[in-house]
Amino acid sequence: MAGITLKNVNKIYPSRYGPVHAVKDFNLEINDGEFVALLGPSGCGKTSTLRMIVGLETISSGEILFDGRRVNELEPRDRNVAMAFETYALYPNFTIAENLSFPLEVRGMGEAERKKKIDKIAQIMRLESILEQKPPMLSGGEQQRVSLGRALIRDPDAFILDEVMSHLDANLKFQMLHDLKILHRELGKTMVYVTHDQMEALALADRIAVMDHALLQQAGTRNEVYREPANRFVADFIGEPPTNFFDMLVRRNGNDVNIVSEDGAISFSPPEKLTKVLATNNIDAVTLGIRPQHLGLSGTDGKSCSLKAEVHINEYLGERSILTLKSGNETFRALVPPYTSAKKGETVKLHYAPEDLMLFDAKTTNLIA
Ligand SMILES: Nc1ncnc2c1ncn2[C@@H]1O[C@H](COP(=O)(O)OP(=O)(O)O)[C@@H](O)[C@H]1O
Ligand SMILES: [Mg+2]
Repeated sequence: MAGITLKNVNKIYPSRYGPVHAVKDFNLEINDGEFVALLGPSGCGKTSTLRMIVGLETISSGEILFDGRRVNELEPRDRNVAMAFETYALYPNFTIAENLSFPLEVRGMGEAERKKKIDKIAQIMRLESILEQKPPMLSGGEQQRVSLGRALIRDPDAFILDEVMSHLDANLKFQMLHDLKILHRELGKTMVYVTHDQMEALALADRIAVMDHALLQQAGTRNEVYREPANRFVADFIGEPPTNFFDMLVRRNGNDVNIVSEDGAISFSPPEKLTKVLATNNIDAVTLGIRPQHLGLSGTDGKSCSLKAEVHINEYLGERSILTLKSGNETFRALVPPYTSAKKGETVKLHYAPEDLMLFDAKTTNLIA
């Protein structure tokens, strides 16, 4: 059992060019048995955070607790947390069974018990048919499954995975996402999964912690980070194709509030909830976000508001099409059914539901509502 708590955790690396502040005042509580994804672009501090949890990197300041107990000073082997990386690091001259057996032998486990454990992991990770083969004979996906199996076999309290799928092709990735879900369900262990791929995070995790520039931007359920992103960065990073953003001005007329683009070509009708917030504050520059999924060509599904735009590109992508549209100075995208026949230069009416609008303070980039 291990709940993991990070309290004001900082990592500062000394370097020739001055200190690098890789993780800033990081606070997060991971519950026992929870599957959390740490998501963010390359260089934002994900690996540094993990390495401090595992004990491979010192904590510059702050505290890491396992089940409420401070572990800052504990050696990695005393933390009982397993870590798997993108690279497999298997012993090429040993069979898969021997590779799996090794971490158990090191702990002095007897043969009968070892065999039982290997069989169980082999079953969960679908390794039964390759136990007698050696790593160089295996595909990338198989090697990665063995590597995960080996990290798991010694029964860690928590399991930490760093970009383990980055180099797998799409088919293998889907299989691996499935395997990891099963693994988590079977073992019920705390898992922290690091990735720069929002699709993987959304597919796997109970909760997603989004990082950028060494800072935790938001920690929330999939629905929270998708529907109520804390700021523009999170709205942009999560979702595919990326969210459309419009630089808009707030026009107030008594209790009436409108959001219009600088050139006046676009205006959005905010939902009542937003109107109320805007009527009582004095923010006048906002960034409006709406996901391409939430702009449709027909007015059904309660999409009661609309905006006109000119079709610039109609990209057919098999199961869907992406329209690139222009209105005034703004370019944006809508995700539409694949058979949509809109042609370049045609003017179309896009429908949206006001509750799908996301409004950010242009200055702070934080979500207003
Ligand atoms: N040992 C180190 N010495 C100096 N800087 C480092 C070291 N390790 C990582 N960094 C820097 O810290 C920042 C965060 O790196 P990292 O935690 O690896 O990010 P991520 O895993 O999100 O790509 C980067 O700017 C990286 O260059
Ligand atoms: Mg990394």
